[in-house]
Parts: sequence; C-alpha cells; structure tokens
Amino acid sequence: MATKLRLEPRDALRLLPPGPVTLLSTMYRDQPNLMAASWHLPLGFDPALIGVAVHPGRLSHEFVTRSESFALNIPTADLMTAVHTCGLVSGRDGDKFAAAQLTPADATEIEAPLVAECVAHIECGLLDRKAWGDHDLFVGRVLSVTALDEAFAGFWQVETDAGQLLHHLGADRYAGLGRAYRVTPSEDE
Ligand SMILES: Cc1cc2nc3c(=O)[nH]c(=O)nc-3n(C[C@H](O)[C@H](O)[C@H](O)COP(=O)(O)O)c2cc1C
Repeated sequence: MATKLRLEPRDALRLLPPGPVTLLSTMYRDQPNLMAASWHLPLGFDPALIGVAVHPGRLSHEFVTRSESFALNIPTADLMTAVHTCGLVSGRDGDKFAAAQLTPADATEIEAPLVAECVAHIECGLLDRKAWGDHDLFVGRVLSVTALDEAFAGFWQVETDAGQLLHHLGADRYAGLGRAYRVTPSEDE
C-alpha cells in the first residue's frame, strides 16, 4: 500500500482548500482597501451570516473593526494575478485597487467599494469579532447580495467562463473547478 506522510498540524489547513478565493473590500476614512481572503465560511441562513478569519496584522482587520462592515467580492480565474497581488501587498503600502488594476464600484448598503470585475458581491455588516488563535473570526450579517446571472443560477455555473471561480491551493498555486456533477435520483426515490 502507498505510504501516507505524517504532516504538521498546520498542513491540515492546506489539506482543506476552502471555497473560492474572495476579495474582501473595506473602507475607512475615505480610504478603500482590498485583501485576498480564502478563510471564509457560511455560518447560518436565517439570518444569513458569514465568518471570515483575518489576521490582526492586516490593514483590512483594522478597517473591518473600525468601519464595522465589509464586502466579499468573488473573482473568476482570469483575475488570478490581481487576486494574488491583493494577497501579497498591504494597503499600508498604497492603493490596492490601483496596484491590482481593479475598479471600485458603489455598494448598496455599505460604504466600502465593490470590485467591478468580480462576478458576485456580498455586503456585510459586522456582527461580532472573536479571537480564537492567531486570526480573528469576523462574523458578518449579510445585507445585500448580487451576482451575474450567467455565473450563478442558484448554483455556480462552473463550466462557463463567467462561473470559473478561483480556488487557492497554497503558495502561488490556484485551481478552477472544470466539471459539475449532478445527482441522478434512483428509481425508488
Ligand atoms: C489566496 C490568498 C488568500 C488569503 N486569505 C487570507 C485570509 O483568509 N485571511 C487572512 O488574514 N489573510 C489572507 N491572505 C493574506 C492577505 O490577503 C494579505 O496578508 C494581504 O496583503 C493583507 O492586506 P492588507 O494589509 O491590505 O489588509 C490571503 C492571501 C492569499 C494570496
């Protein structure tokens, strides 16, 4: 039988590649900011709640805390380089929209800009913040959601370019989901 390597506890986090990479947008005192954010999770339907783990060292951490709001913008694979830039550079070193060549667009419920090039946007008001380990979990209450219909029709259209989400595998590696599967009900169901 093939050997399975013993890994470090931190490798568990890399073994669970999360949902699509998002761009977390914030605004504080007229300064917009963006960061790549993969560590997000759905927390409930009613009310709709989303959690995002953000390291306290990020400028975005300060902006979410101070503005009590943020948006998660969902990019497609063609934005990989821009997303990676947003994950390497800090807003402390300059305007991240400019650095990543992305376009700010007005949100409906919050001050932070959305990313025009992204196919979907989730605007959130901050409900809670809790430190568990070296990242803090921000809990956002969903205030507004928009998505391009050719990308999302109740489920992601992963076989189309518009629905080609970007998943972070670690380091500088990303992947897309190229195939969708559908369950066929059995005769007796
Ligand atoms: C693909 C990718 C996903 C990332 N996801 C997260 C995340 O979920 N939480 C986090 O704290 N940092 C994450 N980062 C790191 C931040 O995006 C990065 O530190 C960024 O420069 C912070 O910018 P800021 O200081 O302007 O907020 C990620 C980086 C990459 C490349």
